[in-house]
Amino acid sequence: MTASLGASAAAVRQVTADDVGLQLAYARHVMVVPGFGLAAAQAQHEVAELAALLTTHGTEVQYAIHPVAGRMPGHMNVLLAEANVPYTQMLQLEEANSAFDACDVALVIGANDVTNPAARRTGNALSGMPILDVDHARSVVVIKRSMSPGYAGIANDLFSDPKTGMLFADAKQGLADITLAVKQYVAA
Ligand code: TAP
Repeated sequence: MTASLGASAAAVRQVTADDVGLQLAYARHVMVVPGFGLAAAQAQHEVAELAALLTTHGTEVQYAIHPVAGRMPGHMNVLLAEANVPYTQMLQLEEANSAFDACDVALVIGANDVTNPAARRTGNALSGMPILDVDHARSVVVIKRSMSPGYAGIANDLFSDPKTGMLFADAKQGLADITLAVKQYVAA
């Protein structure tokens, strides 16, 4: 753990890009969960490249699109369309939530509030907002740079869930590193 990640990073399980690459190389079904951080990093081409690599390897890859992910309506759809992600791979909220139970890995990339289980509780700014049930997947990987909260300013218990591995990285660099790692494992 580096000092810049903050004290709460001590309570989470950190993973490396190599760890994530290995996990993805053996996954059968991966759900990508993009959020504002994917847009901030302009990492849409890197995620599409990783998804294409996994698909070629026989992995089912889908994207879970939350209606308010990012900072404007349709933000994630626009971003992914720029990278030529097929519309058939993009699942809207309810469809995605029906699919998480069958996912080996939910790969959360710069998404925070739209995955925050605090929304299921009363008494906070996210209460009642439908979220993506990423914690229903068998395992979760979150790529973000720090333990900073999202737009609503609320800590996210998903990050300390025992099934979650945190890759602290800029989304663009983290995805490029994961892709390199996957290439090593699928070529082996
Ligand atoms: P957020 O909750 O805003 O979280 C985005 C996360 O991205 C942050 O926690 C940040 O963590 C991470 N991030 C930022 N730059 C990054 C980078 N370069 N690489 C990797 N990660 C990066 O995002 P969300 O889950 O998409 O939710 C959207 C929020 O915005 C909701 O609360 C929604 O209500 C609100 N909002 C949406 C809209 C529309 S219409 N979409 C409009 C206004 C407000 P780090 O700093 O640790 O990296």
